[in-house]
Amino acid sequence: MAEEVLAAALLALLFPAGASSPGAAGCDVAPGDRFDCGPERLLSREGCEERGCCYAPAGPGPGPPWCFFPRGYRSYRAENLTATPTGYTARLRRVAPTFLPGDVGDLRLDLALETPTRLRFTLRDPARQRYEVPLATPRASGRAASPLYELRVNQEPFGLVVSRQRGGKVLLNTTVAPLFFADQFLQISTSLPSHLISGLGEHLTPLILDTAWTRVTLWNRDMAPVPQVNLYGSHPFYLVMEDDGSSHGVFLLNSNAMDVLLQPSPALTWRTTGGILDFYVFLGPDPKSVVRQYLDVVGFPFMPPYWGLGYHLCRWGYSSTDITRQVVDNMTAARFPLDVQWNDLDYADAKRDFTFNKKSFKDYPEMVQEFHRRGLRYIMIVDPGISSSGPPGTYKPYDEGLKRGVFIRNATGQPLIGKVWPGPTAFPDFTNPETHEWWYDMVKDFHDQVPFDGMWIDMNEPSNFVEGSQDGCPNNNLEQPPYVPGVFGGRLQAGTICASSQQYLSSHYNLHSLYGLTEAIATHDALLRVRGKRPFVISRSTFAGHGRYAGHWTGDVGSDWEQLYYSVPEVLLFNLFGVPLVGADICGFAGDTSEELCVRWTQLGAFYPFMRNHNDHGARPQEPFAFSPAAQAAMRNALRLRYSLLPFLYTLFHRAHSAGETVARPLFLEFPKDPNTWAVDRQLLWGGGLLVTPVLEAGKTKVSGYFPAGTWYSLAGVGAPPRHTDSTIHSKGQWILLPAPLDTINVHIHAGHILPLQEPAFSTAESRRKGMALVVALTPDGFARGELFWDDGESWETFEKGDYTEILFLATQVGKEGGFWGVGGGWVLAAVTVLGVTSPPRQVLANGALVGDFSYRSDTQVSACPPPWVGSGRGSWWLGRDPGLS
Ligand SMILES: *[C@@H]1O[C@H](CO)[C@@H](O)[C@H](O)[C@H]1NC(C)=O
Ligand SMILES: *[C@@H]1O[C@H](CO)[C@@H](O)[C@H](O)[C@H]1NC(C)=O
Ligand SMILES: *[C@@H]1O[C@H](CO)[C@@H](O)[C@H](O)[C@H]1NC(C)=O
Ligand SMILES: *[C@@H]1O[C@H](CO)[C@@H](O)[C@H](O)[C@H]1NC(C)=O
Repeated sequence: MAEEVLAAALLALLFPAGASSPGAAGCDVAPGDRFDCGPERLLSREGCEERGCCYAPAGPGPGPPWCFFPRGYRSYRAENLTATPTGYTARLRRVAPTFLPGDVGDLRLDLALETPTRLRFTLRDPARQRYEVPLATPRASGRAASPLYELRVNQEPFGLVVSRQRGGKVLLNTTVAPLFFADQFLQISTSLPSHLISGLGEHLTPLILDTAWTRVTLWNRDMAPVPQVNLYGSHPFYLVMEDDGSSHGVFLLNSNAMDVLLQPSPALTWRTTGGILDFYVFLGPDPKSVVRQYLDVVGFPFMPPYWGLGYHLCRWGYSSTDITRQVVDNMTAARFPLDVQWNDLDYADAKRDFTFNKKSFKDYPEMVQEFHRRGLRYIMIVDPGISSSGPPGTYKPYDEGLKRGVFIRNATGQPLIGKVWPGPTAFPDFTNPETHEWWYDMVKDFHDQVPFDGMWIDMNEPSNFVEGSQDGCPNNNLEQPPYVPGVFGGRLQAGTICASSQQYLSSHYNLHSLYGLTEAIATHDALLRVRGKRPFVISRSTFAGHGRYAGHWTGDVGSDWEQLYYSVPEVLLFNLFGVPLVGADICGFAGDTSEELCVRWTQLGAFYPFMRNHNDHGARPQEPFAFSPAAQAAMRNALRLRYSLLPFLYTLFHRAHSAGETVARPLFLEFPKDPNTWAVDRQLLWGGGLLVTPVLEAGKTKVSGYFPAGTWYSLAGVGAPPRHTDSTIHSKGQWILLPAPLDTINVHIHAGHILPLQEPAFSTAESRRKGMALVVALTPDGFARGELFWDDGESWETFEKGDYTEILFLATQVGKEGGFWGVGGGWVLAAVTVLGVTSPPRQVLANGALVGDFSYRSDTQVSACPPPWVGSGRGSWWLGRDPGLS
């Protein structure tokens, strides 16, 4: 083997002694290492061997492919590797015939050493411009010095090897299977350094994917969540936990329908149906850094308005303004907080966007104004499908849209007509700049009538109740590609519009999975222009980069315990995808909930970054006031807990927006060196310091949770008289069985953190006027830190303009005399509780002055100021149970 080492020992060409020819010998491949040679159809032995592949029938069900590539199967050879200002470029030449139509025989490989932790490589057709995802990504100015990665190019068969500079661990090796680059079939495989792979949304899945022959399909689809099916969004990004706790990530910037195949070796195959191969590799080396490096490419999350973190209430079936008002009144009467009241399509006239029913919603504008006067916000649903069936001159969105050419076109160049809620509909093409202007005009017109505060964009996969269009779809390569990924329904048009319909930027075939993202961008921009404040958009369909513009709810989840569990990994995954504003419909959307399920779901939902209760038409009512007094008390406590914690949650969103962090995060992100955390997906963290251990099963009053090594203080015990459930945990890194009666959700603060809190109220408009507090969770050596980001809660770009306050809190031990901690920035605090105070404080000082009003309990080692559990007085509000009703 000759080896040519290039500049900085980064890159070498490995010349194999001789390309091995396929034959029986090359077929000696362990079953877990076999890569599929007949993915597009079932091959007979003859058909398989004709391709130069090996045939070995196996049992039914998921397992090794029957027809697989022998070792050294020839496809491309790398030539003419040369240096460029940002890295290297090479040509690939196909050296053996292929069985795929539209094969591209010559390819250009570009390797960009963009940053020390980020590598990009692309494979393109040098002779022809192919579709590329229109996502603005950072441009590297030069070649990164001393990167964490080492790169080798295997000449023939062509392959790339990416390994860690330190230790040499191989993260990617694409030599494991042949490369394919045909017009509608692009495939590249890689080895994985471990089985712990997460990402590749959107699916109903545990946090860690199964590598035992799993096919993960990406093609946005309106589909009530079930396992193993492509759902509403596409996020072709994965994160791997390596066996030593370091981590790397890979992003394939490609929006075509694709399969990602996982197999036991472990290995992964990307198989996409168009575009180019455009990969980013993120070297971490810790998982938090991997997420940030990914977000450096797709964009940091938008900053939501403060009210968006409050409680949202919705259902399909609030059939009039009277009913909608009743809901708000009932919430108030039952003393539940509510920030945002929503309506589903009930408000619209004949289910058409930008209209309202002049009978049942005749005083719709007045209702919204009334909500505003009560300190509430209002959001309604908007679907992308624009009703096309009325006579000309009767429906402005369609008439204007037609005139301005904003709709997706069919084969004869006319607006493609499908069918959604209002009946026949045309679909706006949000890749067209004119469509953004038209959308803005429609949003503005409607907002001039009904002063809504945010938009809920649904059905934007886009969903279509007829396959393709009312006139079917043409018969062509885009509608029937040679390889169809494992999409639900078996055809690309299933549940959506024709793949070959034409959009401004390209065919829908290429742009389909970007529909929701492009609509979210148009909606975000329109709201900003119309309201002049921070936009609030929640979208069902998403793509990589969505979090910059909008949040996500997880769609039409069923009201059952299984969906309750799956919502935890789904929320965690969307945080890894850079969409921190995410939540599932609390109590479940489809089907009847039960009281117990709804209580548990509300407790968990209090820790979804986006908290909305939403219910299907015709299902049992599930507003918090619809349940027994005991259930209501439990829900009220969960909501009070959330509202108390909103300053902390808001600060986490600021960190996400300004530094690419996550809000709700899996344990492994904070404790990557503890292997026990790697697969935990029945608990979630808020930031680094707050661990939530929900009950996810029926009939349970105990719950088992994993506690990484250290001290964990129960939050429930902080503001209320200590109960047996509230004992402090000193974990060696262990699973702990916690009491969890129906009125309790277990929430623990990790020693070393300080959380900013505020007295809860019935809306954020009210709570923002209340007193602030701190809870300080000391480490055994008396240390803790935390921070608060604070601004007016809704102005655009306060951080960017410097219009905010940021306070760092630090608690330190000074000498042996006792505790001392300081608060910076002239902030007024109404209450402080310190956890882990080992001996009674002799005195408490504030700004140098003695504070008399403090307490200490030696049994719990809690010192508080003012004492929080005296009656229901001034100090007892925060984190405490509702004094009035429980
Ligand atoms: C590599 O460069 C040589 C000399 O310029 C050229 O003949 C050859 O075609 C190139 N190879 C590829 C794959 O483009
Ligand atoms: C990459 O994979 C090829 C094919 O399986 C193998 O021969 C080679 O040793 C691997 N390279 C490294 C660095 O692991
Ligand atoms: C509001 O509460 C009243 C009294 O309990 C009840 O009759 C009514 O149905 C409730 N309204 C809604 C929309 O839930
Ligand atoms: C395109 O859509 C128009 C309606 O806008 C329809 O009349 C026409 O038949 C469609 N063409 C095809 C090829 O489906």
